[in-house]
Amino acid sequence: MSIMTFQIQAQNKSADSKTLPRVIILATGGTIAGAGESSTKAAYTAGKIPIDDLLNAVPQIHERASIKGEQLAKIGSQDMSIEVWLKLSKRINEIFKNNEADAVVVTHGTDTQEETAYFLDLTVQSDKPVVIVGAMRPSTAMSQDGNRNLLDAVTIAADPKSQGRGVVAAMNELIFDGRDVTKTNTTGLATFQSRNFGPIGLFYDGKVSYYYTSTRNPKEKFDVTKLTTLPRVDIVYGYADASPTAINAVVNDGTKGIVYAGMGNGNFNEAVGKALAEASKKGVSVCRAARAGSGRVTLENEVDDKGLGFVVSDDLNPQKARILLMLALTKTNDREKIQQLFFEY
Ligand code: SIN
Repeated sequence: MSIMTFQIQAQNKSADSKTLPRVIILATGGTIAGAGESSTKAAYTAGKIPIDDLLNAVPQIHERASIKGEQLAKIGSQDMSIEVWLKLSKRINEIFKNNEADAVVVTHGTDTQEETAYFLDLTVQSDKPVVIVGAMRPSTAMSQDGNRNLLDAVTIAADPKSQGRGVVAAMNELIFDGRDVTKTNTTGLATFQSRNFGPIGLFYDGKVSYYYTSTRNPKEKFDVTKLTTLPRVDIVYGYADASPTAINAVVNDGTKGIVYAGMGNGNFNEAVGKALAEASKKGVSVCRAARAGSGRVTLENEVDDKGLGFVVSDDLNPQKARILLMLALTKTNDREKIQQLFFEY
């Protein structure tokens, strides 16, 4: 996919743009750029509005930062891909390396926003702020939330307090750690939550307040400079009386890793356990995660993880565990080392 670039120079009436932090907004599509036929009906198409129109709709952002916009993709985030993730991460690293900006904001669909947030958190090699933002209502809707969220995201990105926090997600006047944030409601405005630890900060009346800092922000990030793809990792969902068919299918199809979204503390029935153990013996990395939505999957409690060659996701949900496992597999196949990454990243 080619990068279409649109640059908007700020028309800053109230402040000298030279003294303002420089923020580049990388647009990828999503509902924040969505348009519908009616302001009151829910139907719309994601990713239709180009970045220059999005920026023109929120002139106040030019009072907070010197803004440039780039259209990196124009997709609903259900179509987010490893290709776009790599492109996004490489572009952000390039921006900071070349000192093109002091902070980056990524506009994104909410469906996979949490995955992109964690991918960038693990691969952006800079302490400068990266804020990911979306909207639940399209730009044409009555009481749309995108303009407000975008203004908040730019303000958060431009705030020096946002330095060194890894990627954060700004939605609905809350600030979340990119590692921990998850979408919890299909259509509600207050969909984003960090189920285990809550938001790290609040945004209100133009002011950014941080309350917590994640300890999971390791200095050593994954280097994606030379990568053109990632090792394949599949997620298989656990349920009562599950058959091993899905596990055997992805193994036969050449997967390098399986995240098993297990029941309770990452549990599985006998047939699934046998299939996972066989997959592990064949060299497929197996990670036990949980479908429960919060809490940790604990090592060596109910399951002989070491004996079976499994790792556990700790508190990462299955879709985030997949991101870390794909990146881990670019460096090592060693079970102990991969487990350590799950305890540190
Ligand atoms: C998408 O993820 O692109 C569609 C849904 C949304 O942005 O809220």
